[in-house]
Amino acid sequence: MTPRSGLLLARVDALPDPGAIVVDFVEGEKRLSLIVTRRGAHVAAFFNRCPHAGYPLERPDGRMVVQEGRYLVCTAHGASFVLDDGACAGGPCNGEGLTRVAVTVRDGAVFVA
Ligand code: FES
Repeated sequence: MTPRSGLLLARVDALPDPGAIVVDFVEGEKRLSLIVTRRGAHVAAFFNRCPHAGYPLERPDGRMVVQEGRYLVCTAHGASFVLDDGACAGGPCNGEGLTRVAVTVRDGAVFVA
């Protein structure tokens, strides 16, 4: 499922700082899972699919692992990604980053651009 422009992802003040949350959407049979990250005034979003083996990144309890306030860690095999831009930062992602979703911030909320 492709995220449609204008889709509300999160309130900025509801995002951990620094940190990330998973936002899931279900429309009939279609599913969309996105990661929304924040570090200070910088927010970003990515498809919740690790380039290593295609798993979602979060822990079984739904929480994202963020190390040193700068890196998202995939809980499947430990690949790490830069919180701000999703670039591969180490582990089995082998140089492949997360796929970014363009966002815009308006009235204190994050929307798909
Ligand atoms: S699926 Fe993410 S590190 Fe393997």
